[in-house]
Amino acid sequence: MKSYSLKKPEKSLPFHWYYDSKIFQKELDKIFNDEWIYVCHVNSIEKNHYRTLKINNKNIVLIKNKSEKISIFYNSCLHRGSQIFEEQDGKMKSSVIVCPYHQWSYDASSGSLLNTTSLKLKDFDKKNYNLQKVNFFIWKGLVFINLKSKKKFTVQSIFQYYDKTIEKIDIEKYAVGHIWKKKVQCNWKIYWENYSECLHCPNIHPELSDLVPLYQRRLVDIQDHPEWEILKKTKTHIKYHGGLKKGAQTWSSDGSSQGHLIKEVQEDLESRGQVYVSTWPSMFLGIYGDHIRIVRLIPINSEEVELTAEWLFPKTTLADPEYKMSNVVDFGILVMKQDASISEVNQRGVYNLGKSSGVLMPEEYIIKNFHQYIKKKIK
Ligand code: FES
Ligand SMILES: [Fe+2]
Repeated sequence: MKSYSLKKPEKSLPFHWYYDSKIFQKELDKIFNDEWIYVCHVNSIEKNHYRTLKINNKNIVLIKNKSEKISIFYNSCLHRGSQIFEEQDGKMKSSVIVCPYHQWSYDASSGSLLNTTSLKLKDFDKKNYNLQKVNFFIWKGLVFINLKSKKKFTVQSIFQYYDKTIEKIDIEKYAVGHIWKKKVQCNWKIYWENYSECLHCPNIHPELSDLVPLYQRRLVDIQDHPEWEILKKTKTHIKYHGGLKKGAQTWSSDGSSQGHLIKEVQEDLESRGQVYVSTWPSMFLGIYGDHIRIVRLIPINSEEVELTAEWLFPKTTLADPEYKMSNVVDFGILVMKQDASISEVNQRGVYNLGKSSGVLMPEEYIIKNFHQYIKKKIK
């Protein structure tokens, strides 16, 4: 099989694309308003609770009602447009939503306008003032929204990088053990680019590169090397074969899964160590020996992105009082913090270089695909 690596140097995106507000507006409009954007796992929110999400100046609210049904609306009152929910998340006081301004009330499941506080008007038809629904789709327990287009959700069109391993797991039944948020001072594309290569792994992630020996070679896949087949046959060290270091079972501080390996995927993980699924522009997901980690990326402005990571576990794992979740959570946070801080360093350098472009080297083939995607979307 052919190697994935690039065969010639490729021009990177112009540096000003990482801070120019006009480019950023185009990206919001043509990418974030157009694509299916990941919100959260259904089990990350309790029943009778809500969660808001802001994407640029658009603001939505997701509500899980008492029978665990999800509804998603634009977070705006149809009277004079006030924002309704001001907090990031919280508990519903009842099954009725009340606007904080003049107290119009809506049904929290259907969004129907129930009552106004005004004097009665003959020609006023309540039906015309229901909360506006957001187009959403729940795939394997993962909630996605689409802000503009009416396009259908299909696995083929949503995930640029997909791995059938994910189909073996009932993610919808998993529990969300931990959620972690971080604002990173870099353009959202810089974080994605960082995620897409391992050239940085040995010096930025010493602990991870110890766990995943292939990363010591600055590669994400053994096939990245043009002579990977020969190397695999002739070299005995695990860094030529992929997978986790000897004795390790999952991405955790000590490599142990504490007796909670996800059986269904062990075969798939054995040679690779981890499996990834991703959808531009908002989400990547990793399957590890005993857990799944999902990272959502939402830009705040052209030079800031917010990460939200969710750790998913089989319910039986979290029910085990002996299982120490911090073993995987701390490790994930360590790696994400390392990526965040080097992404900020990357961002601080781009301003000097303006309209010129950088260069992509052989290992950066995923970044090339990412750049082609961006250019095609915003042209
Ligand atoms: S804007 Fe909501 S009730 Fe007036
Ligand atoms: Fe990294």
